[in-house]
Amino acid sequence: MIGNPINFDKKYFSKNRLWNKPNLDIHIKRYLKLLKGKNVLDLGIGEGHNSIVLSELGYHVIGVDYSKKALEICKNNCSNSIDLIQSDIRDYTIQANKYDLIMSRNTLHFLHKKDALHIIDDIKLKLKENGLVYISVFSTDEPTLQFKRNHSDFKTLENNVFLRLSNNTYSSYFSKNEILKIFSDFTTISIIDEYSLDIEHGKPHYHGLIKYIGKK
Ligand SMILES: C[S@@+](CC[C@H](N)C(=O)[O-])C[C@H]1O[C@@H](n2cnc3c(N)ncnc32)[C@H](O)[C@@H]1O
Repeated sequence: MIGNPINFDKKYFSKNRLWNKPNLDIHIKRYLKLLKGKNVLDLGIGEGHNSIVLSELGYHVIGVDYSKKALEICKNNCSNSIDLIQSDIRDYTIQANKYDLIMSRNTLHFLHKKDALHIIDDIKLKLKENGLVYISVFSTDEPTLQFKRNHSDFKTLENNVFLRLSNNTYSSYFSKNEILKIFSDFTTISIIDEYSLDIEHGKPHYHGLIKYIGKK
């Protein structure tokens, strides 16, 4: 494991949600019928953006997050039960051949790329045969990449990885081809290289994201 986990407790500062109400990403919604079973693992579940809806639809969700505050908000907003585990996702052991869907939405980019790739390899290995993976990560078009290149608190490392000197945390940015290469042994269901305005929280701002859904 390289560096500290990023501490989101400061961001989830109130009892209110940081992001909008739970909502199933259209990318997942579109392909839900491809799932053969009901077991879902959400790595970096946060407030349960997708997972709360999935649990209300009858899916059995296990959610892992480092932030106690996020898990508290998730629990308070969920009418059905989700198994919530407080852990660094780099320490979490994924049970093999259990999950029909493993997702990690907007989380893996808060790690050193080596750690992110290690987790992706583990997801690929442990996912059930014919299971789906959904991963959404910062792309190289994400505006914070340029910001970090020009900020003295960030050290630019190779392969679009950044070290934040003041707290020893890492972040990584991915290209569409990089994600396709990582999943070259999966069947691509959908890959979206998105650049869009985020009006869900704070001042409107842009994000660059690669959203990948693939089948084992
Ligand atoms: C941007 S939020 C996304 C939350 C949720 N997946 C969603 O789409 O709304 C990122 C989440 O990842 C969690 N996180 C970041 N690094 C982590 C780590 N190393 N281990 C566990 N959780 C982590 C944060 O605590 C935060 O809740």
